[in-house]
Amino acid sequence: MRTFFHVQDIGDLKKALEEARAVKSNPFAWKSLGENRTVMIVFFNSSLRTRLSTQKAALNLGLSPIVLNIGQDSWKLETELGVVMDGDKSEHLREAIPVMGSYCDIIAVRAFASLSDRQADYSETILNQFVQYSGKPVISLESATVHPCQAFADLITIDEYRKSARPKVVLTWAPHPKALPQAVPNSFAEWMNAADVDFVITHPHGYELDPRFAGGARVEYDQMKALEGADFVYAKNWSCPGVANPADYGRILSQDLSWTVDEAHMAVTDNAYFMHCLPVRRNMIVSDAVIDSPRSIVIPEAANRVVSAQVVLKRMLEAL
Ligand code: CP
Repeated sequence: MRTFFHVQDIGDLKKALEEARAVKSNPFAWKSLGENRTVMIVFFNSSLRTRLSTQKAALNLGLSPIVLNIGQDSWKLETELGVVMDGDKSEHLREAIPVMGSYCDIIAVRAFASLSDRQADYSETILNQFVQYSGKPVISLESATVHPCQAFADLITIDEYRKSARPKVVLTWAPHPKALPQAVPNSFAEWMNAADVDFVITHPHGYELDPRFAGGARVEYDQMKALEGADFVYAKNWSCPGVANPADYGRILSQDLSWTVDEAHMAVTDNAYFMHCLPVRRNMIVSDAVIDSPRSIVIPEAANRVVSAQVVLKRMLEAL
């Protein structure tokens, strides 16, 4: 595997889930695989889970992690080509990426969407420069449009907790005070569409996800109706994807608190589990009562980030 951006990169999902179960039950079984190998973990943005779980996954495989926080540990990097570098950015990605590539065997990158330039974001301009100039396998640790390590961990969690062969999984938009990227819901939709689940998306009008990720999924604009009989409720905020109106890209179109997942929402489900990728804004996205209830599986979901990262790193090491 040379890149991990999309569900297709992991191949057969049943095999990937089997591998995840094997890794989880015996995390140190491949301890020699990463010997004398290095993964460079590069952050353009903040992180708690991704930062820690990727390092832990690497250590489980005997792989040495190097973490670099761009602009804090390093020079500030220019990402635009063709600009006169007379500002505060001392180095260009064009040099920084091949230099980073020369120090490692795998590169993992977090680089959020700008939310101001849909074309650039949906072209994954930063991530693709890592593919083009590093010469190394590249993992998205949440880039402009995708968060595949999160979606894989979500699928592993659903597989562990499902009580029927084909559970109903509902992705619901929920309010947030800041404009957030679409990477998590895009990847969740892409992975759920590929998995053996009954998948429904619910959001206010205007929040339609890009069909490249959500195409084929059922969309129900009535949140309560969408949640009826759900086995899993996956809450997430996202800003306007700009599908219907590109001028609205990255904007907040609604802050309607009636979309906050509370006990009344959960009451219409089939005793559903509550999921969220975290970090979560309590009493905006989800009420205290729901996230603190025994049906909330946000912590085991976050724990599975080690498992998903380890399967991906293991596959990349095996292919080196
Ligand atoms: N879910 C997730 O990616 O968390 P962090 O942003 O803390 O890494």
